[in-house]
Amino acid sequence: MGEYYLLGIESSCDDTSVAVVSSDFHVLSVKTVSQTSIHKLFGGVIPEIASRNHLAWVIPAVDAALKEAGKTKDDIAAIAVTNYPGLIGSLLIGVSAAKGLAVGWKKPLIAVNHLNAHIASAFLEREKRPEFPYLSLVVSGGHTSLIEISGDERTVLGETMDDAAGEAFDKIAKMADLGYPGGPIIDKMAKGGDASKYKLPYLLKNNNKYADEIVFSFSGIKSAVKRFLDEGEVDMPSLMAAFQDRIVELIERKVKLALSRKKYTAFVVAGGVSANSAVRKMAENISKKYGLELYLPELKYCQDNGAMVAAAAMDDFSAGRFSSLDFDVAPTVRPKIH
Ligand code: KG4
Ligand code: ZN
Repeated sequence: MGEYYLLGIESSCDDTSVAVVSSDFHVLSVKTVSQTSIHKLFGGVIPEIASRNHLAWVIPAVDAALKEAGKTKDDIAAIAVTNYPGLIGSLLIGVSAAKGLAVGWKKPLIAVNHLNAHIASAFLEREKRPEFPYLSLVVSGGHTSLIEISGDERTVLGETMDDAAGEAFDKIAKMADLGYPGGPIIDKMAKGGDASKYKLPYLLKNNNKYADEIVFSFSGIKSAVKRFLDEGEVDMPSLMAAFQDRIVELIERKVKLALSRKKYTAFVVAGGVSANSAVRKMAENISKKYGLELYLPELKYCQDNGAMVAAAAMDDFSAGRFSSLDFDVAPTVRPKIH
């Protein structure tokens, strides 16, 4: 098989994004229509509004992505689209558009799991892919998952019991009236703070119960931060630095626990929160310490985008594994949906 190009469509949350990616993981174009300025007004994503904007922008984004890539529909080998997990109305728009294009253009269709897409974002513009088995950490607004990947087999080693990491950042920022989305704001603010000024707990009350388990929990820290905020005057940069440090420490502990149980070749960290400076530093330190090859997406590919969707479909395409036209969408992760 020579070089080929896939079109990737992402619409699982509030970003409409379409990209053209070549079989060697080179990104020819990404066109993203961000709705952040709209949802910012409400302090979070309003699903109904998100779906309506996807409907308006998905086809213009396809046209723009093809144009920027210097390609036409005839150059596209297949269409990849996110079908779960995500907001149902949002997913339906991207999936319906992809199905329509597949029929109209007579191209194969590949349904993509959003978590796999985030993992594949770390392979964009990289020459090599990691050898198996590798450990991947997906930290985003909707997920905090440690996943072991060995060939086609994916094993979820642990997930969050309550909030996702990005959700914790967003909720704290909302509570402290810092703006939306919270992650980038807190990341920036924390740089000017002194984390040692505030003492925050590690986990829930039942700390010891979960000491040997790969589970994440961020609601305890959230409550502790809330208590400081409720008390009045706070040194906000320092409180945010303490919060961010604690989140990262918690994640680090569980990554180390997974690494102590099995030998991996590489560590992949992806998802919106992988843009966080402290998370990136932690990933670098751990990889060095454990002799793992590190795969971190470039900052521009950390947030939801169409390029990672196309990247995640490469293996299916080369193996001729296509999705039939009747595949469904789903709000949560299911082991197999197509
Ligand atoms: O992956 P993503 O675009 O959407 C989901 O699939 O959820 O992730 C969005 C999340 C938001 O919660 C946002 O606050 C967080 O990623 N985020 C960050 C940073 N940049 C984005 N969190 C911490 N530090 C950052 N620099
Ligand atoms: Zn995402």
